[in-house]
Amino acid sequence: MKEKLPIIPNEKYTKTARALHWLMAIPILILLLLGSRTMGNHDARILPTLHASAGVALVLLVVLRLYWRWKNPPPQRAYKSFLQEWAARLVHIALYAAMFLIPFTGWLAYTEHVRRSLGIRPASWFGLKIPLLPDFGINWHFIHKWGGKVALLFIAIHIAAALKHHFYDKDNTLKRMLP
Ligand code: HEM
Ligand code: HEM
Repeated sequence: MKEKLPIIPNEKYTKTARALHWLMAIPILILLLLGSRTMGNHDARILPTLHASAGVALVLLVVLRLYWRWKNPPPQRAYKSFLQEWAARLVHIALYAAMFLIPFTGWLAYTEHVRRSLGIRPASWFGLKIPLLPDFGINWHFIHKWGGKVALLFIAIHIAAALKHHFYDKDNTLKRMLP
């Protein structure tokens, strides 16, 4: 017989998990939606620096977040079936992968642009020089751009699922993640 999952769990994510979720979700959404207008804007000096600074900070934050997640497993979910539970897990794994790979490929794209003088201004990380990585001659800009588009698709599924839980199933899934 299938084990039953609770429909309305009450426990919230820890304060740290919630803070990290929103501290990362909002800049990620801004970078994804305004990416080419910030980093690719050759007239505005500050925008490429903001894009690169926020992006590099996100690579560092995701490492901290994964460590926190490993030490603090999330509270139980409200899913009605194991299929739903696994669909959510897979989307979360894809989002964690995107949170690491997208800024990292951005950093590699930046390296490629700066080394070959492809037009991007050298940016700084809150005033510090951003180290250049080995770029292996790969078109990182292309990977960064399309990785971002795939991530947007997963984020859209993620947001739609959160809203469905809140307004249709009327369970606590979204409240558990709210500040
Ligand atoms: C989560 C973090 C990041 C997101 C969501 C993001 C998103 C984007 C997006 C949507 C674009 C526009 C792609 C296009 O249409 O051509 C872009 C371009 C770019 N990003 Fe990022 N980025 C992130 C982090 C970074 C970091 C850390 C760096 C560098 C240190 C970086 C460097 C670049 C470069 C060089 C471009 C190409 C600009 C151009 O030629 O138009 N990105 N990024
Ligand atoms: C308006 C935007 C967003 C809303 C309403 C939202 C909502 C939520 C909710 C309700 C959960 C808990 C789900 C559960 O317990 O099964 C969650 C978890 C999560 N969210 Fe978001 N989210 C948003 C944006 C984002 C973005 C942009 C990212 C990253 C790209 C992201 C990454 C994650 C991850 C990785 C988890 C799993 C946490 C864990 O259990 O390890 N979210 N989100």
